[in-house]
Amino acid sequence: MNRFEGKCALVTGAAGGIGKTIVSQLRAEGAMVAVADREGTELDGDFCIPGDLTDKTYCDNLCQQARDKMGQLDILINNAGVITRGPITDATDDDLQLSLAVNVEAPFRLCRAAIPLMKKGSAIVNTASCWGVHPGPDHAVYCMTKAAIASLTQCMGRDHAHQGIRVNAVCPNEVDTPMLRSGFEMRGFNPETAIAELGKTVPLGRVANASDIASVVCFLASDDAGYLCGSLIEVNGGKPVT
Ligand SMILES: NC(=O)c1ccc[n+]([C@@H]2O[C@H](COP(=O)([O-])OP(=O)(O)OC[C@H]3O[C@@H](n4cnc5c(N)ncnc54)[C@H](O)[C@@H]3O)[C@@H](O)[C@H]2O)c1
Repeated sequence: MNRFEGKCALVTGAAGGIGKTIVSQLRAEGAMVAVADREGTELDGDFCIPGDLTDKTYCDNLCQQARDKMGQLDILINNAGVITRGPITDATDDDLQLSLAVNVEAPFRLCRAAIPLMKKGSAIVNTASCWGVHPGPDHAVYCMTKAAIASLTQCMGRDHAHQGIRVNAVCPNEVDTPMLRSGFEMRGFNPETAIAELGKTVPLGRVANASDIASVVCFLASDDAGYLCGSLIEVNGGKPVT
């Protein structure tokens, strides 16, 4: 398939588990891709624009920078995210500010800047979570921020459909990436064993890998999803949030 021939995309969190896979799938199908992450040395794309998404000026200028480098901006993938674990009584002011800044304010700023640069047929894919659509236990701040980006996606999907700009979100459940593994390590578990055990709780029999999520992101970014606007697509292997 060459669904992205002639398309130019910007991907945030492009050095992360899911982000790297999104970038390689987009490029494999013909897209030119500008990549953004605070981990600049880990970036691999046609154009690297490293930076910190808690920096408002970086966020406000990122889409324009990407368009200047590539000549156009057809696809924006807001994939970067951070996780704060624990109930609200464990959350510090810094946890709240960081989670809001990366998971909500950055995609807000990027979407606000991208939409005026985009032409008919463009697409934005945000990354929410099953844990934003349904409340998961002991992740109050994370769930709240993912609920916020889910709601913003639904609103923008509705508001910008008339311009031919589609805005949708992918909502993964657990995915085998550094984000999931770091949580097991923090709690003193061996990540390999813990992920294998977690896989037994998924009706499909395994935890998702980055490709399972990236392929849905690419579907949402492609013309195959040409009639989806403001959708929240849960990718969960049949496992509900409990
Ligand atoms: N892994 C899961 O189980 C899971 C489940 C549901 C949703 N998600 C979401 O998927 C997305 C990708 O997560 P992942 O699992 O690949 O995690 P990851 O930790 O591997 O990747 C996240 C990337 O975001 C980048 N990032 C974080 N803060 C940043 C900042 N301030 N400035 C710039 N870049 C920053 C990191 O450097 C990292 O490369 C996130 O939005 C996450 O919330 C993940």
